[in-house]
Amino acid sequence: MRFLTKNIKENTSDIIITFIYENQKTSSELFEYLNELSNGELAKQIFEFKTIKGSLCETFKYSINKSKKVIVAGLGKKECLTRQKFSQVVASAARCTKNIVGAKSLGFELIENKNKCSCEFSDFSKSEAARIIFTSARIGLYEFNKYLSDKKETIESIVLIDNEITSEIEYGAQVGAYTSFAMKFAKDLINESAQIVTPEYIACLAQEIAKEHKLEAKIFNLSQIQEQGMNAFLAVGQGSTNEPKFIHLTYRPKNGKIRKKIALIGKGITFDSGGLDIKPATSMLTMKTDMSGTASVLGVIQAIAKIQPEIELHVISALCENMPSGKAYKQGDVLVAKNGKTIEVDNTDAEGRITLADALCYADTLEVDEVIDIATLTGAVIVSLGHNITGVMGNNQKQIDKFIEISKLSCENTWQMPILEEMKDNLKSEIADMKNTGGRNAGTSTAAWFLSNFTKSNSWLHLDIAGTAAPEKSNKETLGGPTGVMIRTLINYLIS
Ligand code: BES
Ligand code: MN
Ligand code: ZN
Repeated sequence: MRFLTKNIKENTSDIIITFIYENQKTSSELFEYLNELSNGELAKQIFEFKTIKGSLCETFKYSINKSKKVIVAGLGKKECLTRQKFSQVVASAARCTKNIVGAKSLGFELIENKNKCSCEFSDFSKSEAARIIFTSARIGLYEFNKYLSDKKETIESIVLIDNEITSEIEYGAQVGAYTSFAMKFAKDLINESAQIVTPEYIACLAQEIAKEHKLEAKIFNLSQIQEQGMNAFLAVGQGSTNEPKFIHLTYRPKNGKIRKKIALIGKGITFDSGGLDIKPATSMLTMKTDMSGTASVLGVIQAIAKIQPEIELHVISALCENMPSGKAYKQGDVLVAKNGKTIEVDNTDAEGRITLADALCYADTLEVDEVIDIATLTGAVIVSLGHNITGVMGNNQKQIDKFIEISKLSCENTWQMPILEEMKDNLKSEIADMKNTGGRNAGTSTAAWFLSNFTKSNSWLHLDIAGTAAPEKSNKETLGGPTGVMIRTLINYLIS
């Protein structure tokens, strides 16, 4: 995919997307220009015949000639437009161009929204719109067609159309393009079969990423993981014939200036069968996506290496497969984590928190200012928040507040869930420091409390993306399947 900026006259996109508000006459320069090309027909269709009202995500296709099409996309009520709604409009408009034969490039009108409505974070500048367009258009167009014999033609370039492309707009556009690359990367990796995406496959990929972006790479094999004392993590992977791997990539800015050090940990279960507590078939069906956390953090570090913010970023993942076999870890086993704490295995399907425990301990050795983990951790978060909201937890309210604010600015939904000391009782064990699962109640918070035992950081943030990483149903932005959720927020958080 190519990302370009063009002024109105010089733009040659096959399809041009222009926006209208509900029940309002638009008079943008681009609209006037397109209306002229259509000999006034465009305005007639919209304002006289009311072919489109302009409600949110409504679209109207108009052909100027054989090779030039216009899509008018509704932004909804002017007072109610938010960044997230704009992102949804861009993505759905992009998606509706898919069946237009022969179209190779897609041009978007660059708008701004000065309206501060009662909804939070509604206003946005053209630079922010540029970022949203480059990211959301590509998400809207995304399809995993690698294994389809019958591939449709695809759009090759996305163009921002405006007569005054400032350096701020260029910056927003660039961040948007890198972000969309990170999201596409993650979606592709999550979509790929678990028979291909093994711990070793991801380890090789991490090595390649490090080479391309000049990152430091540490990749540990089985015996090196043993030397590190990450025996809780190893127990989870021991039932599989695929060897576990541990990856640690480090980004440092070229200019050498480091304002903050952050560790970003992704849950990396390349397939979660549940282990001996085997999952029912329908629950296992989507478990190749249990490495979504890893895919996200590997996407994020590539964008960060391009943007070059003044931070040090460590990306960490404990990679393994959770399988039942004669060698698998068992209920009742007591595991010793890297920090010496002991875990009684109550349920082998609560494996993510065990692998994350050792990854968190490892992050403690790096002396970073903040630790963030992202994990498809609990089915319970789906019960609480559904498929469109990511659960946020942590031990530093300031950090949590900042993260949630940035998620809103990044067009993503988050909600804080509590961690209380009382959760300890749920995981009480007679023979070890804690069990890995409690009862059914408050599953998301209990899992987070479990994790909190394995970090010394007082700025630790935990994201439970089990509901949002790969929901089956489509939403306004993206088709069902892997979403690349939280990548936008994480990138914006890291460069803020
Ligand atoms: N990977 C799952 C969580 C999950 C569920 C992710 C649905 C995506 C969609 C996790 O390892 C798991 O199995 N969790 C168990 C924990 C339980 C045994 C306490 C769960 O949530 O059922
Ligand atoms: Mn599991
Ligand atoms: Zn899992």
